[in-house]
Amino acid sequence: MNVQTEQAPATERHPDAQTITKVTHYTDRLFSFRVTRPQSLRFRSGEFVMIGLIGDNGKPLLRAYSIASPSWDEELEFYSIKVPDGPLTSKLQNIKVGDDIILKTKPVGTLVTDALIPGKRLFMLSTGTGFAPFASLTRDPEVYEKFDEVIVTHTCRDVAELDYSKQLAESLPDDPLIGELVGGKLHYYPTTTRETSDNMGRITTLIESGKLFEDLGIETLNPETDRVMLCGSMDFNTDLRKILEDRGFEEGANSKPATFVLEKAFVGE
Ligand code: A2P
Repeated sequence: MNVQTEQAPATERHPDAQTITKVTHYTDRLFSFRVTRPQSLRFRSGEFVMIGLIGDNGKPLLRAYSIASPSWDEELEFYSIKVPDGPLTSKLQNIKVGDDIILKTKPVGTLVTDALIPGKRLFMLSTGTGFAPFASLTRDPEVYEKFDEVIVTHTCRDVAELDYSKQLAESLPDDPLIGELVGGKLHYYPTTTRETSDNMGRITTLIESGKLFEDLGIETLNPETDRVMLCGSMDFNTDLRKILEDRGFEEGANSKPATFVLEKAFVGE
């Protein structure tokens, strides 16, 4: 007997779909996740891509996310805020290993060493999820080849919000690939503004008072020797840009490298 079975049409996978391989929740506001890396994706550490989910209307809902993994990693990592009523992150925070996300393979951004002229020290100053591009850059051997000292600061409201950067900074000296390069060159300086910790205060205040440099036992900022990358909220970027420009730093771009670069920490929703 010839039985014809009617097959339901297989749901077609989106051409830009990638699979979640790991999800880590840090607080009720912060999580990170790893996804498979499309073979065609080449990027410079510090750049961002558009990622997201298929929305209720069947169309991709995409936002800019800094890639938090270094360019040599075979997977991609992202560090995200969770906003309860945010169109994307309210859904993205529920992703699980094996789920698909949409990822567009066109990396862009100015937080790249190519947008800076050569220097001796590299400062990477961040707040909140603005640490993400620095999670990529601090794992990139090129950074330690180009600079003698690397100073990365991360300011959050509470101690728990520093977990992601702290775990990363603590793991770097033992990293089989870059541990040796990092040794002695990397200074990690976490600060909190609303909960007591070893280093308290906004980084803007700690730079202006000189406490950051005193605590680390290093010279203050100098445009002759130092290069700076900023990534945080709009207000943070504006305030720090002024501090840097007052000290003689000039903003750079891919087309015109200079002594500092900045990018807004993306995705507030
Ligand atoms: P504060 O607690 O004093 O506002 P958020 O979680 O709101 O994105 O903030 C992340 C961190 O960035 C907080 O510790 C916050 O400090 C700090 N911050 C916010 N605005 C500025 C700014 N203009 N300059 C320096 N730090 C800032």
